Amino acid sequence: MIRGETIERALAGGLFRRVITCGEVDSTNSVARGLGVKHSGEGIVVVADSQRRGKGRHGRSWHSPPGENVYMSLLLTPGCEAPDSPFLVIAAAVGICEALRKSSGLEVRIKWPNDIIVNTRKLGGILAEVQTMGGIVTSAVIGIGINVNSSTRTMPPEIRETATSLSDELGSNSIEREEIIVAVLREIGSLYHRLFPRTAGRPSGEADPEERVWLIRRWTELDITLGRRISAVTSSGIILGTALRVDENGMLHVRTDSGSVEKMSTGDISYVE
Ligand code: BTN
Repeated sequence: MIRGETIERALAGGLFRRVITCGEVDSTNSVARGLGVKHSGEGIVVVADSQRRGKGRHGRSWHSPPGENVYMSLLLTPGCEAPDSPFLVIAAAVGICEALRKSSGLEVRIKWPNDIIVNTRKLGGILAEVQTMGGIVTSAVIGIGINVNSSTRTMPPEIRETATSLSDELGSNSIEREEIIVAVLREIGSLYHRLFPRTAGRPSGEADPEERVWLIRRWTELDITLGRRISAVTSSGIILGTALRVDENGMLHVRTDSGSVEKMSTGDISYVE
C-alpha cells in the first residue's frame, strides 16, 4: 500500500497538503470529483493502489493493476477563467516530465496534448476534468497515471507495443511509488504557484502572463510532436499536416496539406512519414 503520511510529510508546507490513500477504487478522478463537492480548499490528492475502472482520454480505459503503478488525482480550485484551464494540464505535463527526468535520468518527453513519453512509448497520461461556473474554473481534477513497476510483458495486448514503464526503461522492478509521487507533486505544486501566484493565501485567479510564456517555451522543448508530419483525429474529422507550434493558449497549430493552418484544442495524434 502507498503510505499517505510519508508523502504528506515530504510535501509539508507545499500546495498538496492532504493525501488520501485508497486501496481499490473505480477511478481516482471520480473519488476526487466527489470530494470537490464537499471541500472548498484545494491541494487534496487522491492516490489509489489500483482502479477497477481507470479512465483514459476519449472513453478509453487505463490499465490499473494493484501494487505497481501511480494512479492519482489532484483537486485544484484555481478560480481562473475557463480559457486558462489548459494551463492546468500544461503545468501537470511539464511537472511530470521535470520530476521524472530528475529522479530517473530518463529523457522523458511530452506528446501533445497530454501523453508522457519515453523513447516513443507511452509512460503516462493525464485526464483533466474541469468544472466551470459563469466562465470561471471552480474546480479541476487532474488525473495522472504513470506506469512505474508494471512490465509491458503483462500489459494488455492492445497497449503492449506502445506503452512502457519506468521499470522496463531502467531495468528495475522495485521503484518506490511514494518517491515518484512526491517528486511529481513538488514540481506541479511549484509550477502551479508560479502560474497562479497567491494573493492573501489564495490563488489570484489569473494565469501570470510571463509564466505562461515561460511554460509554453519549456513545453515546446519537451514536446516530440512539433515539426513532425501528423495525422490528427478531431471531432470535425481527420487532419493531415505538419505540427507547427503550441500557442499561448495551449492550442496546437497544424499546417494542413491543403495549406491552411488549423488550431486544435484536443485530439489524437499519430505520426506519419
Ligand atoms: C490518457 O492518457 O488517456 C489519460 C490517462 C489518465 C489515467 C489516470 S490514472 C489516475 C486517474 N484516474 C483515472 O481514472 N484516470 C486518471
